[in-house]
Amino acid sequence: MRTFLGLFMMMIVSGDNEVPINGFLKDSVLLPCNCSGRNLSRVVKWQMEGLNGLSRVLELDVGNTSDSFDRYKGRAKIFVANCSLLLTNITAEDQGKYTCRFYVQELYMYSVRKLNISAAKYNVCQQPARNLDGDVRVMVFQCDATGRYREAEIQWYLDGELLSNSSKTNITHTSPVGTPTGHYKFKTTLFTQFEWTAEPICGMKVKGIPSHIEYVCEEGTGYFTSQQQKCSMRYFKIIPIVLVLGLSLVLWCRWN
Ligand SMILES: *[C@@H]1O[C@H](CO)[C@@H](O)[C@H](O)[C@H]1NC(C)=O
Ligand SMILES: *[C@@H]1O[C@H](CO)[C@@H](O)[C@H](O)[C@H]1NC(C)=O
Ligand SMILES: *[C@@H]1O[C@H](CO)[C@@H](O)[C@H](O)[C@H]1NC(C)=O
Ligand SMILES: *[C@@H]1O[C@H](CO)[C@@H](O)[C@H](O)[C@H]1NC(C)=O
Ligand SMILES: *[C@@H]1O[C@H](CO)[C@@H](O)[C@H](O)[C@H]1NC(C)=O
Ligand SMILES: *[C@@H]1O[C@H](CO)[C@@H](O)[C@H](O)[C@H]1NC(C)=O
Repeated sequence: MRTFLGLFMMMIVSGDNEVPINGFLKDSVLLPCNCSGRNLSRVVKWQMEGLNGLSRVLELDVGNTSDSFDRYKGRAKIFVANCSLLLTNITAEDQGKYTCRFYVQELYMYSVRKLNISAAKYNVCQQPARNLDGDVRVMVFQCDATGRYREAEIQWYLDGELLSNSSKTNITHTSPVGTPTGHYKFKTTLFTQFEWTAEPICGMKVKGIPSHIEYVCEEGTGYFTSQQQKCSMRYFKIIPIVLVLGLSLVLWCRWN
């Protein structure tokens, strides 16, 4: 009887060879599964295989009540309609292989998703350079960053080199401020009397892990993105070249 049943039990695999899903520390991530439109006959199980072996994540009973386990308590949520799993406040330990298992009658089905926790993500908004009010010798650069991971510092780089205070440069930063949405806001201002040819760029230094930075500014704030700034800076550099070329042309015409 058992072997007979075994013959009729099928496994349907999906996602095993797919590229990993990227998750960012403290952020949330959706791990897809698809049990929609099926007549589930048993408990739906989400399990994960990570550095510390196999662990239970969440189970959904046919009565649509769900339970999450151990370190997933309060962080795992299942969508009853499609069995997809939403993980919130993710940690480095969450990296691993996630399996969604369910039965449709005696048909056993599972799908595997790899979750890669790569870095802490920050949105960085750098304002265009301006002169200090009342002192044109001083240039002011300002930058704001938002991310879910607090253990980081906002910093300035010039041609890839970290900038620090000096007799002509003053860098101030506020300590990270928490928001009700679980984000932290970082802010820094750079005052300098140097006339740099390149623009200083602000970035995030995260302790122990890499960071993933997106240069964006919230709509309506009127800030430029760093990319736009680089473009306008390039035009400023072109103007003297055009002037020199034009002048040379005029002189050359007169000469002849
Ligand atoms: C599952 O359902 C949720 C909520 O309706 C939706 O946000 C999500 O995109 C769905 N996922 C898949 C893989 O269908
Ligand atoms: C989910 O599975 C159902 C039933 O097999 C199928 O009709 C539907 O297209 C699938 N949805 C997705 C998003 O793959
Ligand atoms: C995220 O998890 C940490 C512990 O790992 C906890 O201190 C913090 O309160 C959690 N944040 C949210 C928004 O649940
Ligand atoms: C995880 O993401 C990081 C950064 O995006 C990447 O360097 C690494 O190769 C990824 N790991 C896997 C297993 O894909
Ligand atoms: C740096 O700037 C801050 C804020 O404008 C100011 O309070 C501080 O005195 C300045 N420090 C130096 C060394 O100029
Ligand atoms: C630079 O000096 C100011 C005080 O003038 C201080 O608040 C700030 O933390 C220093 N910045 C760095 C990057 O050390």
